[in-house]
Amino acid sequence: MGTTILGTGVYLPESVLTNYDLEKMVDTSDEWITTRTGIKERRIAKKESLVLMALKASEEALRRSGVGPEEIDTLVVATLTPEKRFPSTGCFLQSKLGASKAYAFDISAACSGFLFALEVADGLLKSGKAKKILVVGAEKLSEAVDWEDRSTCVLFGDGAGAVILSYEEGESDILASRMYSDGNLWDILYADNCGFIKMKGRELFKVAVRNMEEVCREVLSMAGVSPREVDLVVPHQANVRIINALAERLGIDREKFFVNIHKYGNTSAASIPIALHEAIEEGKLKRGDLVLMTAMGGGLTWGATLLRF
Ligand code: ACO
Repeated sequence: MGTTILGTGVYLPESVLTNYDLEKMVDTSDEWITTRTGIKERRIAKKESLVLMALKASEEALRRSGVGPEEIDTLVVATLTPEKRFPSTGCFLQSKLGASKAYAFDISAACSGFLFALEVADGLLKSGKAKKILVVGAEKLSEAVDWEDRSTCVLFGDGAGAVILSYEEGESDILASRMYSDGNLWDILYADNCGFIKMKGRELFKVAVRNMEEVCREVLSMAGVSPREVDLVVPHQANVRIINALAERLGIDREKFFVNIHKYGNTSAASIPIALHEAIEEGKLKRGDLVLMTAMGGGLTWGATLLRF
């Protein structure tokens, strides 16, 4: 018996904000944003609420999994942009979805939130405390950035991704995982209550590459897998230069890294589930593949999870 990913779903807002649009809003250029980050455009939730995005992604994941909302016993939402201090986004989602038998809560681990949520969900399934879990990463970062601060507003976007996990016959899809936090480094990336995202970009860049490399190596070694055996890497989409540096340091072919940051920017906790879904949709991820996911975010928090998909 083991943890199985039954299906995935995403929601991306209709409204697109390009780098050229941003040129009209702050002192920046498409050239600067593209070369420094790899981002060309991002989605902005103008009419969609955070809960609506989470709902649409969850409905798609349920549909693709052939699971009804009433079968979900645990519902976890990773987000750093909840609509209210409380109740949790999870509770609102539970109500809209009709997941009447589920208990629901949020996880706050910034850009690592989806992997942290997956870790908790895997533990609940293994311990027998849950049978079917909905894990969602959802963000409305357009409300958390200062649209007059060019150093941050060009980086982020809105969206949601969801996965349904079940405890099934056969081996676990999750082969190995490891999560870390270092609260001493909290002020590299944070937002005060009701405040905007503040970031020391250069420091974060270095820590992100170093920590993600280390945790990826640790997780691969836990599973007895060498970097070159990995079929696909689904990294948190923060900056294409971070992804390039990670590929080089790990010695994994850059072509094996799934990248969609050019379309969506950094969607924090939503970025990995959105990328995972798109990789499946585009046929880049097939059953049996070895998939390495890794993230780094405010906290600081970071981690990696290896799947046999
Ligand atoms: N357009 C034009 N110029 C800009 C912009 C902009 N949007 N933003 C900053 N600049 C200027 C700065 O003012 C600075 O000018 P100066 O030299 O006259 O002072 C210059 O560009 C260089 O600024 P830096 O911040 O040093 O630029 P850097 O090359 O480090 O790139 C960036 C900035 C893209 C944020 C980079 O540090 C980075 O990607 N860091 C990683 C952080 C990250 O990805 N955060 C996302 C959340 S965390 C996570 O998910 C891991």
